[in-house]
Amino acid sequence: MSEVDFPKVTLKLATSLDGRIATSTGESQWITGTEARQIVHQLRAEHDVVLVGSGTALADDPMLTARIDPEPKVQPTRMVVDSSLRTPLTHKIVETAKQYRTILVSGLHVEEDDELPFVAKSVDVWSLAIAPGGGVSIRALLTRCAEEGISSIFLEGGGKLAASFLKGGHVDKVEWFRAPMIIGGDGIPCLASLGIEQLNEVADWERTRLEVCGKDVWESFSKKL
Ligand SMILES: NC(=O)c1ccc[n+]([C@@H]2O[C@H](COP(=O)([O-])OP(=O)(O)OC[C@H]3O[C@@H](n4cnc5c(N)ncnc54)[C@H](OP(=O)(O)O)[C@@H]3O)[C@@H](O)[C@H]2O)c1
Repeated sequence: MSEVDFPKVTLKLATSLDGRIATSTGESQWITGTEARQIVHQLRAEHDVVLVGSGTALADDPMLTARIDPEPKVQPTRMVVDSSLRTPLTHKIVETAKQYRTILVSGLHVEEDDELPFVAKSVDVWSLAIAPGGGVSIRALLTRCAEEGISSIFLEGGGKLAASFLKGGHVDKVEWFRAPMIIGGDGIPCLASLGIEQLNEVADWERTRLEVCGKDVWESFSKKL
């Protein structure tokens, strides 16, 4: 399957002015204000899938539903990239899988017996190849999504998963909400390292929106082709 068939990926970042998504202890709720968070719910509703890494699922125990009024006719599918199925069975995303479609993306090495407790709670488990540097292969994930008819993904972090998508050139749009606070260098960065050494290796982004949103600023960017 060619890359043109991959779903469109929108990366959401909700950061401090200095690009942190949590304090050094992992506290992240809430950096941005209610207005920004309401827009994020609307953006979730506009995508087929809301995706996070296992680090975020473990730290935040998120629901990842689109909580807007009126409720969307179809909630986005919730997806966690979790190569060793570390997400606790007691987490909300697992407990509510009967109600809202939920997919955990694990590595091929995971035993079927370890998947069964999740499947019993109505979670779909996709076993995909692990990339040479570790973590689920993003190309394998996007290929499977395309095969399943998924055409848009709203990627909500954290920094490690977002960096993996960016490194592969798999992010099409960025929705960036910046709060007027400074957390400092010991906070968790919104992006893990990208391994860029020369500025000419850096992708160019075009700003398509710059808006005040409550106490925060909302900027949208599209990848320059
Ligand atoms: N402010 C915000 O809006 C916001 C948003 C999201 C997160 N956060 C915060 O960010 C923190 C978590 O971020 P994080 O960067 O530590 O974790 P993360 O990006 O959410 O998850 C990283 C984990 O995902 C799994 N993974 C599987 N395949 C991967 C791949 N190809 N690339 C990268 N990861 C892959 C790995 O765990 P396995 O090996 O176990 O699979 C990896 O350790 C939390 O403190 C959370 O509160 C804040």
